[in-house]
Amino acid sequence: ENVGEFVRVEVDPDNPAVAVIRIDRPKALNALNGRVTEEIAEAAARVSSDDSVRAVVLYGGERAFVAGADIKEMAELTHAKMLEYSRALQNALTAVARIPKPVVAAISGYALGGGCELALCADFRVVGAKARLGQPEILLGVIPGAGGTQRLPRLIGPAKAKDLVFTGRHVKAEEALEIGLADRVVEDDEVYSAAVELVARYADGPAVALAAAKEAIDRGLETDLDTGLEIERLQFSGLFATEDQKAGMRGFIEQGPGKATFE
Ligand code: CAA
Repeated sequence: ENVGEFVRVEVDPDNPAVAVIRIDRPKALNALNGRVTEEIAEAAARVSSDDSVRAVVLYGGERAFVAGADIKEMAELTHAKMLEYSRALQNALTAVARIPKPVVAAISGYALGGGCELALCADFRVVGAKARLGQPEILLGVIPGAGGTQRLPRLIGPAKAKDLVFTGRHVKAEEALEIGLADRVVEDDEVYSAAVELVARYADGPAVALAAAKEAIDRGLETDLDTGLEIERLQFSGLFATEDQKAGMRGFIEQGPGKATFE
């Protein structure tokens, strides 16, 4: 199903509960222009609200995940325009980060600048052996503007994030794995299927509990421990009003550990 000119929401043929947000602007290596950004936000909203979707893959095809924000579109923008442009980018990527389901980025080729920042909004990153990741904005005389200065240090720590942001260098798959930017490295032609496999295991899990777990972890990382624990306590106790908790605990008591089935 087309979201617009450059983004589609597809269903994985073998896993009907796994949706794929497919970015497809090959002429510019999937660079995020205003249109692509808008369509990503719309795609995130669609997969978030569709109950038949239980897990999500972000995919840009084999040559590039996303090579960044569209430099040609940005180059002549004024400060005032850029304030809006950056807000739209941040909002779109935050909409992806807030998808209340397991999300994996399937990265083949380039994930640079805004592309790396988009990948940071997924829960997991599966990276092809020949992929290149990085935050090259400094080489353009700017800094990451779609969450890179915030989400990258949260994921890999401040010193490693500064290394990548200060140098703008491309990181190969093996190093990405070593520093925690990648969770799995696979052959390039296996990126998509490995990513699907990684999240498909959640498709018949307890969807409400998975959403609560994601929200508690992500919101908790944005706050102090005390507030984080409070978020956890409310999410945890809130689950006692759900079918997931009933089915899960009944399943344990009647059939044993790991035997519960969820709607
Ligand atoms: N914006 C606009 N166009 C881009 C682009 C980008 N970020 N990345 C690639 N393209 C275009 C190229 O201009 C080229 O277009 P033409 O055919 O019309 O010339 C086409 O995509 C193919 O790219 P290349 O010919 O450059 O391909 P390559 O294989 O030689 O190099 C690359 C690939 C190393 C990814 C190189 O294209 C590159 O360095 N791209 C820019 C990467 C970058 O700096 N990204 C950060 C952008 S700024 C940002 O993202 C800010 C933010 O945080 C919000």
